[in-house]
Amino acid sequence: MPNQSKEELPIFLVGFMGSGKSTIGTCLAAKLDRPFIDLDELIETTIRRSIAELIDDRGEEEFRAIESRALRECARSGAPVIATGGGVILRAENRELMSKTGVTVWLDAPFELCWQRISADAAVRPLAPDRETALARYNARNEHYKESQLHIEIGEDLTADAAADVIVKLLVELSSVQYREL
Ligand code: S3P
Repeated sequence: MPNQSKEELPIFLVGFMGSGKSTIGTCLAAKLDRPFIDLDELIETTIRRSIAELIDDRGEEEFRAIESRALRECARSGAPVIATGGGVILRAENRELMSKTGVTVWLDAPFELCWQRISADAAVRPLAPDRETALARYNARNEHYKESQLHIEIGEDLTADAAADVIVKLLVELSSVQYREL
């Protein structure tokens, strides 16, 4: 963890597709009066095409390289709230960057809720084409999400506003722990 006050650090929201990173992130940024960055949107604006098209055309590895570059840019740009893509934790360099430059928050949603949202969403997610593939990825990724500094359980009834309030509370607690350790 960097030796800086939590107020100056980027906040990285991590979690599986459909865990609510973008909606909760928007709410959290407003509460903290910080800029909000949606990493997927930033990538799509930069490459001027959809991530689904990029993966279809150039493959996942090419996408992951672009994702890592975009993440590095975000980590340098002040102290935003960043909604990352669900697979950002796959690369060790991304995990290291996030833990060294900011605070990581895992939005821990049960698979069924994620799948329900993925299936209902108009956005195409090429890495979750069916339930079985999505579940295998979900299970394989949990060990990395678990490394996050902060953890919040996401349930169907938890609104984005309430989730953001919980995260604000966790951040305040983390800051006071860090303050006592100084
Ligand atoms: C991915 C998640 C997506 C997007 C891409 C790959 C993944 O973002 O980055 O389709 O590997 O989990 P969301 O988590 O915002 O859906």
